[in-house]
Amino acid sequence: MKVLVIGSGGREHALVWKIASSPLVTKLYCAPGSAGIARSAECVAIKADAIQELCDFALKEAIDLTVVGPESPLALGIVDLFENAGLKIFGPSKAAAQLEASKAFSKNRMNQFGIPTARYEVFSNVNEAKHYVIESEMPIVIKADGLAAGKGVIICKTSQEAVTALDRMMTQQDFGSAGSRVVIEECLEGEEFSVLALTDGETIIPLASAQDHKRAYDYDRGPNTGGMGAYSPCPQVSDEKFQEVIQQVIRPMVEGLAKSGTPYRGVLYAGVMLTREGPFVLEYNARFGDPETEVILPRLKSDLVPVMLQVAQHKLEIKTLEWHEKACLTVVMASGGYPGHYHKNIPIQGLDAAASAQAVIFHAGSAKDAAGRWVTDGGRVLAVSGLGDNLKAAYDAAYQAVDKIKIEGAFFRRDIGKRALEVLK
Ligand code: AMP
Ligand code: GLY
Repeated sequence: MKVLVIGSGGREHALVWKIASSPLVTKLYCAPGSAGIARSAECVAIKADAIQELCDFALKEAIDLTVVGPESPLALGIVDLFENAGLKIFGPSKAAAQLEASKAFSKNRMNQFGIPTARYEVFSNVNEAKHYVIESEMPIVIKADGLAAGKGVIICKTSQEAVTALDRMMTQQDFGSAGSRVVIEECLEGEEFSVLALTDGETIIPLASAQDHKRAYDYDRGPNTGGMGAYSPCPQVSDEKFQEVIQQVIRPMVEGLAKSGTPYRGVLYAGVMLTREGPFVLEYNARFGDPETEVILPRLKSDLVPVMLQVAQHKLEIKTLEWHEKACLTVVMASGGYPGHYHKNIPIQGLDAAASAQAVIFHAGSAKDAAGRWVTDGGRVLAVSGLGDNLKAAYDAAYQAVDKIKIEGAFFRRDIGKRALEVLK
């Protein structure tokens, strides 16, 4: 089989790494890919958003399966385009991908299908939104309706902060058109985790549980980022609780969308808060999580390719997946300044010494310079994943590898998985 993966980050490196291990795959491409990905796939210089060019390439090369990493080509309708051209592609249609592309759409569907989520209101008029927050109890959460690379959510402790956030989103358009409509919702408290499941619109195969660390610095301080580390499985979520979450947040969404005539196919990701009143959905994503993928896929024993192919064929016959009895923990090494301004082209040293049987290094934002040396090329540079018989062993494996890598000015969190390790104690 010829497979094409779309995207260039750490998530796509993990997908390529896993797909490359399938005996079914004879040729693997990644568009646009990266220098790290180039070790396992042939990179094609087409951007992830250039959906027509990608379709032309897939037709020319007779690609048997395309796997979409990031959200933006999904929101642009890449799946509809490929399917109309007779190509097999793993991901939701443009209509179903609205679940991530519009928070208002997503919240309306959750209400319609009886899925627990924070109470909310939607506003397109800034004065009405301001009036609403001034009358509301604090804290309150303000979310840009559209795609904002994980940065469009602001938790406001005072009404003054809320008014400022609304001005930034709706008047100054800090997130472009994504912020011209906002969702304002009540603030929930609890432990957060991610649930991902593969589905063809009917059959559901849950993947392993994972927890992301969104804040930039240790002990959940600092600004929100795309994700600074993750681990899987989550000891805070018992098997029973996990099944309950699948039944309460994944199944009703998959069934509801199918009944509404917009079946969801691909991987459905729910960000869940375990509150005292039970699990509440914070958001749905229409794709694999980053960095959740970098801890889930190293634990997966089954071949991912046949499952993805069946999803793309709209007929999932495989019902379960096999997992290694191991834990995985990933630490993101980020450029100094991220998620704000940062410099690129800073040398990365120690990659060869750090890789081992217990540690896989996924490249998120790196490149090779003219002399063939590794340099930084993005905010999140590497996701260093450690594997072990338990979470502590995975933690040790990941940090032993991280400590061998030197990137001037870079930073990473020291406390990935620490709360889970406390629970295990
Ligand atoms: P989202 O992009 O919707 O997942 O939001 C990003 C982050 O903001 C989440 O991972 C949560 O940590 C936080 N968040 C979102 N919605 C809420 C909420 N209603 N209450 C508390 N925290 C929230
Ligand atoms: N890890 C968060 C996300 O992928 O959206």
